[in-house]
Amino acid sequence: MNNLSPNHTMMSEQQIESQLHFLPRVSAILDREIWIKRDDANGDLLTVGNKQRKLRYLLTDAMRKGADTVITTGGPNSNHARATAAMAIQLGLKPILVLGGQKQESKQGNYLLNHYMGVEVVFSGASTHKEMEQAVNQHAEKIKAEGLHPYVIGVGGSNGLGSLGYVDAYAEMKEQAAAQNVQFDWLFVSAGSGGTIAGLIYGCCLHKDATRIVGVSSGQTVTDIKAKIVSCLEEATAWKGDNQEVHLDDLPVYLHDEYIGEGYGCPTDGGMEALHLLASKEAILLDHVYTAKAMAGCIDYIRKEKVRPGEKVLFWHTGGTPGLFAING
Ligand SMILES: Cc1ncc(COP(=O)(O)O)c(C=O)c1O
Repeated sequence: MNNLSPNHTMMSEQQIESQLHFLPRVSAILDREIWIKRDDANGDLLTVGNKQRKLRYLLTDAMRKGADTVITTGGPNSNHARATAAMAIQLGLKPILVLGGQKQESKQGNYLLNHYMGVEVVFSGASTHKEMEQAVNQHAEKIKAEGLHPYVIGVGGSNGLGSLGYVDAYAEMKEQAAAQNVQFDWLFVSAGSGGTIAGLIYGCCLHKDATRIVGVSSGQTVTDIKAKIVSCLEEATAWKGDNQEVHLDDLPVYLHDEYIGEGYGCPTDGGMEALHLLASKEAILLDHVYTAKAMAGCIDYIRKEKVRPGEKVLFWHTGGTPGLFAING
């Protein structure tokens, strides 16, 4: 595993570690024991969230390969793109963002933060993940011809190497849970490009845990997310030199696309209820794009008694708070 260890010039493991704690008031209201893993508070506003756990591996790879430029993609308000730009700057690399959609008149949320960081942003007009990846690859070819050495990171930094950040995160959570004498029956997490949940699933298998993992899609169909998770798992096991295959269909993993509502980024009633609940009872902010919908899925499981009385729930907060400042409440 040594040759995979993230570069020490980046955030140390202590800096990236997030708290695991019980949610007393929300637990009382929902009548279940609910805990939270705070990856919304694992860095400053520019690096915060799930992405930096993946980026530690990906940017270490970029440095090893002698890149001078890091180029990635996402939606106009992408958390991943903002975090990639910030971490590239911290390493002295030039970030370029080839974002989907069109240039926006008003600068809000992550878009505003990219502007403050002085990041070069190109709008490709792409809307699907596939189109965004085509556009970023094309742009990378263009800047290579101009003499730069780009390292290309696909949507969400979701590949096998990036997922290893969440294998580590699972181990971190296990240590914290053991210290607090808790074991989880359920783990709820948002799933966008699939790398975060893939790492958690792999981590769960490595620990031989029976925890049921529920992935709530932010926009992709279950079929598309599943394909992405399978490919991340194949690549991640290969990176670790692990001969055991992880078969998604044999595991207690449940994926859902019915909490998306009208589409990616569109607030839902269930999501906004979850956002107000966590903010008003625990003073914790969810974001409307990812984590509020994941929490809405968790609340729905509880109300439908799929999570039974006495079972312990972990809600994995994946961040996204800066993106919240791109909508009107
Ligand atoms: C805040 C937040 N939560 C969850 C996700 C989903 O993570 P992943 O793309 O690894 O599935 C993302 C990114 O897409 C995100 O920005």
